[in-house]
Amino acid sequence: MSPGEPAGELTKQETVRRYLKAQIESGMSAHEKLPTERDLAASFGVNRLTIRRAIDDLERHGMVYRVQGSGTFVSATPISKTLEFTSFSEDMRQRDMVPGSLSVSLSVEPAGMAVGYALGLSPALPVVLIRRVRTANGAPMCLETTRLPAELVPGLEDGIHGDSLYDDLADRFGIDVVRADQQIQATVLGQEDAAELQVPPFSPAFLVQRTAYDARGRAVEFAQSLYRGDRYSYTLSIARTSIPKES
Ligand code: GLP
Repeated sequence: MSPGEPAGELTKQETVRRYLKAQIESGMSAHEKLPTERDLAASFGVNRLTIRRAIDDLERHGMVYRVQGSGTFVSATPISKTLEFTSFSEDMRQRDMVPGSLSVSLSVEPAGMAVGYALGLSPALPVVLIRRVRTANGAPMCLETTRLPAELVPGLEDGIHGDSLYDDLADRFGIDVVRADQQIQATVLGQEDAAELQVPPFSPAFLVQRTAYDARGRAVEFAQSLYRGDRYSYTLSIARTSIPKES
């Protein structure tokens, strides 16, 4: 497909989105700049809002990132297919529950070997450590231990503004968390963790380990979350990798 080809049944926005996606996947490099919205609008003969919306969609899928005043760039790791990526707060709201936090503790410590490896940091560099009991409709749901490179979030150790870490990262530090490598495994809760989640010791739980990245591909969070097995389940939105041919 090229800018000059007819759009057929596709909307103009979808035509532009597919064209840009194909360009990115077929040979653009990480951090390469996309043509400007103005140039794309001229090439496709559409208005800039149409271009912007097509790029918004690519940004939501982690394929590109914008730098104010400079333009739009190809993300470090273009991904064409994602499972849904949410924060705890969004996750609970989607389930019609009210998210909250029961206890929050914050400190700064050296990353250490394992966390340093996950975040791509020297083990000696400081990370902000956050421990929270997350609640849904006031009931403990998840025990969250999160570490972030201290350099990226100066002052975060004094407290999260509001209840959502991801909202605070975006609002205060300009960090948009857009994708993550995540591992989910079954486990049982030790005595202390079980007490914090208000369930009997050795109750079943999900251990979710997440390394989250911002739009530039920087590792910004390494989190270990223990979800109560009796209160939590996973639902995956899955999609075909290609659109079926019309008959
Ligand atoms: C999920 C992830 C955590 C992340 C949290 C942010 O629970 N497993 O890694 O820190 O979401 O949620 P919120 O923005 O509600 O604080």
